[in-house]
Amino acid sequence: MHLPPFKLERYFAKYEFNTEFLLCSSDCEAMSIADLLTLEEGAAEKFQKVWLGYTESQGSPALRNEICGLYTSMQPEDILVHTGAGEAIYLFMYAAFQQGDHVIVHSPGYQSLAEVARSVGCDVSPWLAREENGWALDMNELRHLMRSNTKGIVINTPHNPTGYLMSRVDFEELNKFAQENNLILFSDEVYRESEYDPTDRLPAACDMGEHAVSLGVTSKTYGLAGLRIGWIATKNKRIYQNMASLKDYTTICNSAPSEFLAEVAMRHREKLANRNIYIIKHNLAIIDELFINHPSLFSWHRPKAGSMGFPKLLQGNVESFCDDLVKKAGVLLLPGSVYDDTHNHFRLGLGRMNLPQAVARLESFLAS
Ligand SMILES: Cc1ncc(COP(=O)(O)O)c(C=O)c1O
Repeated sequence: MHLPPFKLERYFAKYEFNTEFLLCSSDCEAMSIADLLTLEEGAAEKFQKVWLGYTESQGSPALRNEICGLYTSMQPEDILVHTGAGEAIYLFMYAAFQQGDHVIVHSPGYQSLAEVARSVGCDVSPWLAREENGWALDMNELRHLMRSNTKGIVINTPHNPTGYLMSRVDFEELNKFAQENNLILFSDEVYRESEYDPTDRLPAACDMGEHAVSLGVTSKTYGLAGLRIGWIATKNKRIYQNMASLKDYTTICNSAPSEFLAEVAMRHREKLANRNIYIIKHNLAIIDELFINHPSLFSWHRPKAGSMGFPKLLQGNVESFCDDLVKKAGVLLLPGSVYDDTHNHFRLGLGRMNLPQAVARLESFLAS
């Protein structure tokens, strides 16, 4: 097994905890344990009594029951809880694929979605999100990428880093295609429920049939990354069992306090998501103004969901721009090169409350 450095995470490791303004975060504004517990009468007292022994490896039944609320046909036994979405991606790739399998992966994207498959020994073909199509994936291109040994498709929508939300027609066609060709569809839905218009929300892939595995997490839409609670939902018993048995070699079970807090959060997830969508919409108005003020410097496709976009810097080199900006102004943007993008894009985060101050700092950097 060989895993190269995770470029995005290494970039964050350099700057995340020593930079004043993070203007490229993928998660939404977090909150304290105390604030989370106020969402529910009696939760603070119950939290004090959480038992600190080992927990059930699949995740506590109460938490899995709450997670089922995200789906239409999932039962608690279809949910496997992990330490963040990161652990679930890792275990899924080893549980579902073998050396020599061909896997088609939405690109550019969160590095582990392709890299872990490669480390298993899979041949990975990128399914390219094209800017000229508003970062949409093209179903015809997917058909051309198919080989006799293709075993799976990996998608992420709403998408990191472009903010692309697949249309319902394409999503249904993709699921049908996967079923007809006996492919596993791994659907990274960690930004689901952050659609700015709820009628744009896609069904979860796991509700479309046994071919699909949906990935979720508390980190993004709900703004609770510190809980490190992620999960997969699937009716596919082979993949579920394989992942459960690999988990015995990684974390065995989850943190008991985090499971309790995640259970409370998932019960009130609509409130948490609405708070964060409100922040995103407010921030989008500020970004619209920034881009109107600098039409020769920035262009972008305004997202319809999620907490980020992938604008293009129209002058200069994006790596030097980001480097200068963080060193001289204390504002962190993420150059597209961490996604192997070569077209001068950068990731812009929309989910943090201090975005107005970060943009003001960026404006004075541009003025100077
Ligand atoms: C698309 C996508 N999937 C998975 C993850 C991993 O989430 P977590 O860090 O909460 O495990 C991320 C985090 O940025 C992501 O953007």
